[in-house]
Amino acid sequence: MAKVVVQFTCSECGATAGRWLGRCPGCGAFGTLVEELHGADGRAASGAPRTPERLGDVQVSEAARLGTGVPELDRVLGGGLVPASLVLVGGEPGVGKSTLLLSALGAIARSGRSALLVTGEESVAQVRLRADRLGGADDVSILAETELESVCATLERDRPAVCVIDSVQTLYAGELGSAPGSVAQVREAASRLLRVAKTSGVATVLVGHVTKDGAVAGPRVLEHLVDCVLQFEGDRYHAHRVLRATKNRFGSTNELGVFEMTAAGLVGVPDPSALFGATRGGEVGAAVAVALEGTRPILLEIQALVSRTDLAMPRRVGTGVDPKRLAMIVAVLGRHGGVPLGSADVFVNVAGGVRIDEPGADLAVALAIASAARGAPLHDGVASFGEIGLTGRLRPAAQAERRLEECAKLGVTRAVVPEGTDARREGPRLVRAETVREALRAALAEAAGGREEGAREAALSA
Ligand SMILES: Nc1ncnc2c1ncn2[C@@H]1O[C@H](COP(=O)(O)OP(=O)(O)OP(=O)(O)O)[C@@H](O)[C@H]1O
Ligand SMILES: [Mg+2]
Repeated sequence: MAKVVVQFTCSECGATAGRWLGRCPGCGAFGTLVEELHGADGRAASGAPRTPERLGDVQVSEAARLGTGVPELDRVLGGGLVPASLVLVGGEPGVGKSTLLLSALGAIARSGRSALLVTGEESVAQVRLRADRLGGADDVSILAETELESVCATLERDRPAVCVIDSVQTLYAGELGSAPGSVAQVREAASRLLRVAKTSGVATVLVGHVTKDGAVAGPRVLEHLVDCVLQFEGDRYHAHRVLRATKNRFGSTNELGVFEMTAAGLVGVPDPSALFGATRGGEVGAAVAVALEGTRPILLEIQALVSRTDLAMPRRVGTGVDPKRLAMIVAVLGRHGGVPLGSADVFVNVAGGVRIDEPGADLAVALAIASAARGAPLHDGVASFGEIGLTGRLRPAAQAERRLEECAKLGVTRAVVPEGTDARREGPRLVRAETVREALRAALAEAAGGREEGAREAALSA
């Protein structure tokens, strides 16, 4: 029988201490240390020296990626699941994690590879009901089991190509005293499954619940442990869901998958620009941004509302935009754009529940706010991109060419862009602006001041 060790682990940073402390010695958070029991085996050094290999001599069996049959999921993963990897999928309750992964398992099974679903949350019959709704998941193997030891033993024996554990919080290791879902249990389950995934070559997907503040429940250690962390986001009350990678050892973390929840399951939206970038001409406070999500340009409608306030600290509320970025844009508009907002509340919203974390969308946010503040709509068919600097000058955005391509595809007729942006042969007419003020003049359908003065236009269509 292995010796059992008691230790206290921080649920935020994973630091350990030999006794309970009110404040974590690692990250300084209060009240985050929790008791953990674990066997000392495996962790104690067995002591025999080993010979390291020369990296160049390491044999690589070309690990082909496993397509999941869900193109949006494959893209976010960086081209499919990597065999023997561990992926964590987080998301709020009811967002559609089980639905997405069951569709993927169904497609994998249909392509002739073995797919196993370990369900601890729903009964086999409940999953069957979902499978009937989705269709095409008949060949998926299913196991209702929460005992970690049995799950690992099954994986080692059957070696399925892909295994989904729904959810990691329901797994239970008997030798640990704590309840399922506790920090110790979740961590033990993940590290044990990691070992099994690596040794048996099973691509393992863990479903994890998300706490109120958006973190995957359990220790942050889990995020360090796994190869890939996917977040499934979106409003339960809207049909659209966005899948993104927050960590990916085998690909970019910037890719985005968009889904629509329908009665027949989650349907991929291959062209989110058409969905999120559609504006109604003449609407005050709306602007179209050409943002970049990884390698993928996407048109997004930005909406803004500006209203007078008596608050000493006017509100700047952004949904889908970084609050610091928003505060900066509001300040630049006031100082350099001739749009004073000192006694106004500013609300900004990005369509479709998408979150922008790219400075190339600055200009569209500024245009939407200016449009709302002045009560003047943007010209019809205008989109924009460009980073705003603190001096009010516009900086060229990365991958302008790809953004313009997307504009051309979606019938944008005019693009307001920073000076120095190269034109394409086809596509929208470019209106180059050096400063925020020039961009406002070029984009807003306002009579005052002659609207295109200052902004140099280049008509570039063939
Ligand atoms: N017949 C249906 N038509 C349309 N949407 C449905 C239907 N049945 C279920 N849904 C949607 O599926 C969602 C539940 O999906 P799912 O069970 O995959 O979520 P989950 O993320 O696994 O949740 P949990 O964290 O509770 O396990 C619900 O929010 C609901 O919107
Ligand atoms: Mg579920």
